[in-house]
Amino acid sequence: MNTRRIGVLTSGGDAPGMNAAIRAVTRAGINNGFEVFGIRRGYKGLMEGDIFQLRSEDVSGIIQSGGTFLQTARSAEFRTVEGRQLAYEQLKRYEVDSLVVIGGDGSFTGANLLSKETNLNIIGIPGTIDNDLYGTDYTIGYDTALNTVVQAVDKIRDTANSHNRVFFVEVMGREAGFIAMNGCIACGAEVAMIPEEKNQLDKVRNYLSTRGDKKKSTIILVAEGIDEGNATEISQKMEVEFPQFEIRLSILGHMQRGGSPTAKDRIVASFMGIAAVEALLDNQRSLMVGWVNEQPVYVPLNKVIKMHKGISHEYVKQAESISTFMPPVE
Ligand code: F6P
Repeated sequence: MNTRRIGVLTSGGDAPGMNAAIRAVTRAGINNGFEVFGIRRGYKGLMEGDIFQLRSEDVSGIIQSGGTFLQTARSAEFRTVEGRQLAYEQLKRYEVDSLVVIGGDGSFTGANLLSKETNLNIIGIPGTIDNDLYGTDYTIGYDTALNTVVQAVDKIRDTANSHNRVFFVEVMGREAGFIAMNGCIACGAEVAMIPEEKNQLDKVRNYLSTRGDKKKSTIILVAEGIDEGNATEISQKMEVEFPQFEIRLSILGHMQRGGSPTAKDRIVASFMGIAAVEALLDNQRSLMVGWVNEQPVYVPLNKVIKMHKGISHEYVKQAESISTFMPPVE
């Protein structure tokens, strides 16, 4: 076989814009002389040999859809050497020598091991609504999810204002508070509770005890990954401690992961897909395509999975400087 073959899969949580990346890898791949194979249901489908050839027209009409046209999965078996060996055997069966993995941290941990254990060329494209990957300013799906949160919280503000209520709104983000913090800035929410910061509960107590009753409403955004409990537990605690307020809870949940991708998600995902194919043309073996200063960059996969990216304390302080609530100076 002379033509090189690329396999493409999506893994972990789906994210709006993944389809634009699949489309770009397929089209840029074919236009650069590769044959491209889609792998359904992430590493799980790969181990099962759920692999099919993608033609340019197969990826028509998918750029505007949320979710992933290839479907996705989280696979425990792929964490084992045997699972990864099985995946390698399947790729060999189809004579695929290069793999593009679109996913997050867990997916790249698997990709990095697979590249160490085999001679495959593996390129990662960051796809997760959490935006929590090192080496890139931006991950596919984050912009759409953030805008979904903004629309939802604006609606919650209307009803909160009408009833003079305090709302705790839980948003996604296990390891990092990008959605909560930037959602807070964009919605004019009063407080954000994020995994990067300490003493979050005290901050809320401090806010509620100085708030008074003149304010029409309060919105507190809670990232799901904070140490001090989830939004349900926190709001219950605050109801007991502050019976003077009408407290309500709203958990946005998986609605944050769905929906048609924003223009930004579609465009960045497209350029990341092109950059992934360029890296394979250059015979690169184990890189992630990142997005820094509105340009694609390449970062070693092993560095991406070792390092952590989160919201800085300085960023939080700046956000707090435009809230009605100013926590005491530290
Ligand atoms: O990593 C993306 C993410 O949406 C996280 O924000 C969230 O914690 C997790 O996935 C939810 O995963 P699942 O859909 O498997 O419950």
